[in-house]
Amino acid sequence: MTQSVFRDGLLAGKVAFITGGSSGINLGIAEAFVKAGAHVTINGRNVEKLEAAVKGLQAHGSARGVAADVRQYDAMAQALQGTRDAHGEIDILVCGAAGNFPAPAVGMSSNAFRSVMEIDVLGTFNTCRAAFEHLRKPGASVINISAPQAYLPMALQAHVCAAKAGVDMLTRTLAIEWGGAGVRVNSIVPGPIDDTEGMRRLAPGDDVREKLIGSLPLGRFGTKQDIAQLALFLVSDAATYVTGSLMVCDGGQSLLGSGLMLRAMGV
Ligand code: COA
Repeated sequence: MTQSVFRDGLLAGKVAFITGGSSGINLGIAEAFVKAGAHVTINGRNVEKLEAAVKGLQAHGSARGVAADVRQYDAMAQALQGTRDAHGEIDILVCGAAGNFPAPAVGMSSNAFRSVMEIDVLGTFNTCRAAFEHLRKPGASVINISAPQAYLPMALQAHVCAAKAGVDMLTRTLAIEWGGAGVRVNSIVPGPIDDTEGMRRLAPGDDVREKLIGSLPLGRFGTKQDIAQLALFLVSDAATYVTGSLMVCDGGQSLLGSGLMLRAMGV
């Protein structure tokens, strides 16, 4: 991993709560926040995964874990109260818990569609709603993790497209409602990020991977650090006038025509 471009101690003493923090992009953000000096609580459903992730984070600084399902409001309210009791008011909230599996619309049950809607949309709402009373206002910052599916319709992703569009509208609505209290709310929209469960499910095999890389203007997958650096920017004092933004970090994947020209040329 390359060196962070941010100064040491950027988040010294800040308190952060991250859902879906046991793995992938969210764990990458947690690691960057811990290294920057924050007290980080990660949340997940699987206790074993959570404990292993916390252990790894503690090698770099202050970290704890709390198991709860983002779909259960009371469980999230308790998890957030526990974080406040442990570390004080919360400066940073990252809502990253998400569900995904590739399936055609007629290949998923109503319950399968509901699962992803509930994890992504209801889970983000529950976490934000329950966190608001614990946020250090003004100065607190919320990041919701979105996806290109929020605005790029994709086959096999009806549930995720609907859910992430909902997450982004939550971001923009809460940015309006909470701006007066001094709380900023933004989305990060990660493109294809290497070594994540999402990409293992959506781009399995070297062939798909190479084709996808060939279609990306920047010619490579993103890294967890690419996303973590953007998260550090968003929660830092460099971004105090940024709210309601959907910050795309995707190597140009979502640009109109991205990859089409290369494919037409047979490259
Ligand atoms: N195709 C079709 N349906 C699927 C499926 C698939 N690949 N995987 C799960 N489902 C269905 C289940 O069959 C079930 O529907 P049913 O009750 O009608 O049979 C429904 O989804 C819920 O599954 P369940 O096992 O009860 O688990 P859950 O509600 O806790 O969550 C997932 C299921 C798949 C949404 C969740 O475990 C998940 O997304 N895990 C991966 C996390 C991930 O990759 N995160 C990164 C996101 S980019």
